[in-house]
Amino acid sequence: MASLGQIIFTSMIILIILFSTIIILILAIAFAGPLSEAQSSNRSPIANLGEDELLSCYLHTTSEKNTFSQVSVSWEKTSLSGVVYDYYSGVADFTDQNSQFKGRTQFFPETLVQGNASLLLRSVRQSDEGEYTCYVSSAEGDGQVSINLRTAAFTAPTFTVSNGTLTAEANRWFPKPNVTWLDYFGKVLQGSTSFMQNTAGISSIVSTLKPFNISDTYTLRIQNDLVTAVSEATVMGSDVKKNTIFTFNSASSLPRSYLSIMTYVLCICYLT
Ligand SMILES: *[C@@H]1O[C@H](CO)[C@@H](O)[C@H](O)[C@H]1NC(C)=O
Ligand SMILES: *[C@@H]1O[C@H](CO)[C@@H](O)[C@H](O)[C@H]1NC(C)=O
Ligand SMILES: *[C@@H]1O[C@H](CO)[C@@H](O)[C@H](O)[C@H]1NC(C)=O
Ligand SMILES: *[C@@H]1O[C@H](CO)[C@@H](O)[C@H](O)[C@H]1NC(C)=O
Repeated sequence: MASLGQIIFTSMIILIILFSTIIILILAIAFAGPLSEAQSSNRSPIANLGEDELLSCYLHTTSEKNTFSQVSVSWEKTSLSGVVYDYYSGVADFTDQNSQFKGRTQFFPETLVQGNASLLLRSVRQSDEGEYTCYVSSAEGDGQVSINLRTAAFTAPTFTVSNGTLTAEANRWFPKPNVTWLDYFGKVLQGSTSFMQNTAGISSIVSTLKPFNISDTYTLRIQNDLVTAVSEATVMGSDVKKNTIFTFNSASSLPRSYLSIMTYVLCICYLT
């Protein structure tokens, strides 16, 4: 005869096994994710004013077959009437396109079969800043992704040397950056920088370093909240060898997978 204690004990074990199974199932579903979803290779791009910028959006699938058919795409901008770009039944539909984007969008229908719904925005203006949403649907699945576009102006500096002075010039920066000269060891050097702003608020920069040593390498850092340009310059006689690397400040946004794991962790806490 099983005692009451044994019955309770057995029931507890069964309940624990049952709950563990449910949790494992939920986790499996969470990590497998949906069969297809929309993604972007850059959800917070920083466009250089006046240049073209690709708004990246594509369908991603975990199934074997990774081609898509009957793809429709709609690009919209938050708090803007009409659409940025519309594509369905194999043609672009401009009837609802907001005039701000007239003649300034390029779409790539030939890449739709791979799920690519990216949109090229031509000659970016400051008014293009904001949140864009790409809605993409296909026979194989659909999804949407939001992209936060920001704008700046940035150019790599050019270097010249004359009369014992190393001069750097960069003619388009916005917002106004700060400028720092560093030696090979990263020690800050005393340079002299002047800014000239045009009516649009875009700065041209002239910065000089004096004295400097021939064949030493100097670093010039031009930086604002959005963009950092790090240039290395080495004076070789009357020539300056230079190399510039841009880095962009990405707005911190939690990746989607992390969010969904968080949601499931919350669910598990609720269950137990
Ligand atoms: C989508 O197409 C654009 C334009 O051809 C290309 O630049 C981009 O790399 C493509 N993206 C993907 C994920 O294939
Ligand atoms: C070159 O530098 C010297 C010393 O700083 C200065 O006196 C001279 O005027 C400069 N020459 C030119 C052409 O800038
Ligand atoms: C030039 O070289 C000398 C000797 O190595 C060093 O003391 C000095 O700090 C250097 N100056 C600059 C501007 O790099
Ligand atoms: C330069 O600007 C960046 C971005 O605005 C800021 O983080 C940094 O502290 C500034 N550096 C100096 C030396 O002012």
